[in-house]
Amino acid sequence: MADRYLSFTGTAPGRFLTRRLGLPQPAQLRREALTGGLLHLAAGKTELDLASVLDRTGLAPDTDGHPAAVVLDATGVRDVDTLAGVHAALHPVVRSVATSGRVVVLGAPLDPADHHQAAVQQALEGFTRSLGKEIGRGRTVNLVRLTDASAAESTLRFLLSPASAYVSGQVIEVGPAAGSPTAVPDDAELPLAGRTALVTGAARGIGAAVAGSLAGRGARVVVLDVPQAGQEARRLAERLGGTALALDITAADAGERIAAAVPGGLDVLVHNAGITRDRRLANMPAERWSSVLDVNLASVLRTTDALLAAGAVNRGGRIVATASIAGLAGNAGQTNYGASKAGIAGLVRSLAPHALAGHGVTVNAVAPGFIETKMTAAVPLFIREAGRRMNSLGQGGLPVDVAETTAWLAHPASGAVNGQVVRVCGQSLLGA
Ligand SMILES: NC(=O)c1ccc[n+]([C@@H]2O[C@H](COP(=O)([O-])OP(=O)(O)OC[C@H]3O[C@@H](n4cnc5c(N)ncnc54)[C@H](O)[C@@H]3O)[C@@H](O)[C@H]2O)c1
Repeated sequence: MADRYLSFTGTAPGRFLTRRLGLPQPAQLRREALTGGLLHLAAGKTELDLASVLDRTGLAPDTDGHPAAVVLDATGVRDVDTLAGVHAALHPVVRSVATSGRVVVLGAPLDPADHHQAAVQQALEGFTRSLGKEIGRGRTVNLVRLTDASAAESTLRFLLSPASAYVSGQVIEVGPAAGSPTAVPDDAELPLAGRTALVTGAARGIGAAVAGSLAGRGARVVVLDVPQAGQEARRLAERLGGTALALDITAADAGERIAAAVPGGLDVLVHNAGITRDRRLANMPAERWSSVLDVNLASVLRTTDALLAAGAVNRGGRIVATASIAGLAGNAGQTNYGASKAGIAGLVRSLAPHALAGHGVTVNAVAPGFIETKMTAAVPLFIREAGRRMNSLGQGGLPVDVAETTAWLAHPASGAVNGQVVRVCGQSLLGA
C-alpha cells in the first residue's frame, strides 16, 4: 500500500497545504547517495584516531557549509564543563546539515570508577535522542560508543551512508571485538563473496529484501520458507543465484535439515521468519499464544542450538535475529508477539558475549518499526497512518532499510558489533 500522504507532501501544493494546516512534513529519504561533504568536530580532549577512518568513508570534507554528515567526537567529554563543548560544536552547524543528512555522535563507554564521566557520557544518549526528534527534514542522529575507531569503521560507514536512512535515535556499542574486528574482505564491493547466508521467511517482505542485500554483496543465499511459499522462494532464489529450502522452521528437526542443506556451513544466519496472531490476552486462546511463540522464538532457539551443536556456523559467522519495537515497547493486543520479540533481545544479549566470542561469531538483532510490507498493509487505515507518522521521520520504513542494516551486521568487518539490538524504526515514539 503506497504512502500517498508522503507523495502528496513531496509536491509544492501538498507542502503548502500541509504546512498551513500544521500537519507532519515527512521528507523523501535519500536511499541512493548522500549529497554533500563530511564535517568532523570534537568536544573535549580526544584520543580517538578518527581521521583516517573517516577518509575511507568516501565522503569528502565539507566545503560549502551544507554537510551531508557531521561526526562529533565526544569521547573526551568527562564532566559538565566539557559537555558544553557538544552544544558549542553543533549549535552553529545543525541548521545547515543537508536534507536526509546524518549526525553521528561518538561517545566513550561509561567509566564505573568515575561518576562524572558516566553521567555526562550517559547524557549524550538523551542529547542524541532529543536532537533526533527535533532535527527534521529526514535527517538522522545516532550515538556510537566506542574505544577504537578502526573497530568501528564498518559501523561508521553504515551510519554515514544512505543504507541507514531509517535508523535514528540509536545507541550502538562497538567493541570489544569478537574475533578479528577489522577483517578486511578481499573485495570491498562484494564483502560476502564466497560466504553462505541463510535467511528464514525469505520468500517475501523483509526476508526477501534481506536475501537480496546479502546476495548483492556476493553471498550465496539460501532462501528458506514454508513449503506453501515454495514457488515464490524458488523464483527469488533463481533470481539471486541461490537455492531455495522449503521448510517449516517450527519442525523439530529444522536445525538438522538446514545443516544438511549447507555442507560447507553457514557464514550468515538470519532468523527473519515471523508471524502475528493478535488478540488481547483476555481473548487469546492458547493456540494463538503458542503458534506465535513457536515461530518467533522457540524455533529460533532450537535451530540456533542445533546449528551450533552441529558446528554448522562457521568461524567468524554472523547471526542476526529479527525482533520488533513491539517487543521493546509493548503493544496492545500483542502480548504473544511482544513476548516473543523481547525474547529475541534476551537471546541475543545472553548468547553474544559468552557462547561464541572465541570463534568470532557475533549475535545481534534488528528491531523493525513500521515497515511497508504485506503484514502492515493489512493493518486498519487509522492504525496504519499512526504507525507511519508516529516516528521522527514521519513515514514507514522500507524492507530494504532492514535489509541494509542486516547487511552491516553481517559484514566481515563488523566483528566488534556484538549483542546489539538495533531498531530500524525512524525513531518510533513507541518505546523510544
Ligand atoms: N513489517 C513490519 O512492520 C515489521 C515490524 C517489526 C518486525 N517485523 C518482523 O520482521 C520479520 C519479517 O516480517 P514481514 O513484514 O516481512 O512479514 P511477512 O509476513 O511479509 O513475511 C514473513 C515470511 O515468513 C514466512 N514464515 C512464517 N512462518 C514460517 C515458518 N514457520 N517457517 C518458515 N517460514 C515462515 C512466511 O511464509 C513469510 O514469507 C518478522 O519476524 C516480523 O515479525 C516486521
